[in-house]
Amino acid sequence: MQISSSDAERKMLTDAGYADPAIDYYLEKKHIGHISNADQISEKVGSCGDIMKVYLKVENDTIQDVKYEITGCAGAISAAMAAVDLVKGKKLNDAMNMNDGDVFKVLQNIPEKKHHCIQLAVKTLHKGIEEYKSSNGG
Ligand code: FES
Repeated sequence: MQISSSDAERKMLTDAGYADPAIDYYLEKKHIGHISNADQISEKVGSCGDIMKVYLKVENDTIQDVKYEITGCAGAISAAMAAVDLVKGKKLNDAMNMNDGDVFKVLQNIPEKKHHCIQLAVKTLHKGIEEYKSSNGG
């Protein structure tokens, strides 16, 4: 039987300590990309040197869409994708309350040394919301 590259990747990530939901988010990468008419674009560099750029589409104080561009690890990608699912359709203020623990719960598990990658995903999103608010009258 032939093993596809995503099966091989899945096995590697499982062995490294990623739970299935985290692996699905990483392999699907469903919120990776950019929004051409974004209302806000913000960028953050993590302590590891990896970079995340977040694109926000906002209407009536509600997050319509979010995309990330990421130069970073599997943990960073899965965390950012889960964060988008948590905040899409939410009011800006509610999205500010989303935290690392919420993302971790969705992912179920990622290696402990990757927990700072969740922080980077959440901080980048919060930075985007804060910058959107300050350039749109708070
Ligand atoms: Fe840099 Fe994961 S190691 S974001």
